[in-house]
Amino acid sequence: MAFFKKRYQTGRDGLSTETMLQGARLITAAEPKNPVSEQFRTIRTNIDFASVAKGNVKTLLVSSALPSEGKSTLTANLAVVYAQQGKKVLLVDTDLRRPTVATTFGITDNHGLTNYLADAKSEVGSIIHHTRMNTLDVIVSGPVPPNPAELLASGRMTALIGDLRQQYDLVIFDVPPFLMVTDAQVLMSKMDGVAVVVSGGQTTKNALKRTAEMLKLSEAPVIGFIYNDRNRKKKSDNGYGYGYGYGYGYGDAK
Ligand SMILES: Nc1ncnc2c1ncn2[C@@H]1O[C@H](COP(=O)(O)OP(=O)(O)OP(=O)(O)O)[C@@H](O)[C@H]1O
Ligand SMILES: [Mg+2]
Repeated sequence: MAFFKKRYQTGRDGLSTETMLQGARLITAAEPKNPVSEQFRTIRTNIDFASVAKGNVKTLLVSSALPSEGKSTLTANLAVVYAQQGKKVLLVDTDLRRPTVATTFGITDNHGLTNYLADAKSEVGSIIHHTRMNTLDVIVSGPVPPNPAELLASGRMTALIGDLRQQYDLVIFDVPPFLMVTDAQVLMSKMDGVAVVVSGGQTTKNALKRTAEMLKLSEAPVIGFIYNDRNRKKKSDNGYGYGYGYGYGYGDAK
């Protein structure tokens, strides 16, 4: 198991390391008028609708069944489109195993979440990094710890989430896949909302079924599924090929 996890972290399993090494593509910041950016704005609108139904979702966890399904790309672009709307947004890199946020936002100081969680004297302000966008802040992962799930399960993490939800309109958490490690499950009960990325041609029926069962058993506050249509490549996508669409409208994982 330990060997398997190590391979999962380093991408030696044939997993994509593009976003870890080069950052997620921020098409919404680079090309706000691109149709793909419009798709991210549509996802934002749908999350807003679901949020109203659920009762003001301020903390949102985003994950998927398996690795490399587009979570980090989605969460980073979602954070950008919320900030473009004037909302005070925080993106937290809670994927302590395959972190991306520091690279995506060009933050060279990797002082982040794990430093805070491991040091009781550390202050929240010391791990908040501002970005070039006025209302968008991020927390990077910090050094990869030996015990990510334990750190995320700690009372200090619960207190931090409570603290952050006071300071921001929306806090988005990018977390590891549901079926690989327990990190997402550990965090779910502490969140107002959970969104699940499903990747076209990639997420298997079985993986989705197991994820839905797990979400139901944990009584996760699911607000919707986000479909990453990665096969939809159009010229207008400028080579990005992101065909994100959104399917939602239920609270029960069936
Ligand atoms: N719709 C898409 N079209 C083309 N490429 C995509 C699409 N969505 C994601 N990708 C690519 O797939 C790879 C994995 O994406 P990303 O890192 O966002 O996934 P992830 O779910 O966060 O992965 P991990 O499990 O490692 O955290 C990246 O190289 C990204 O650019
Ligand atoms: Mg990721």
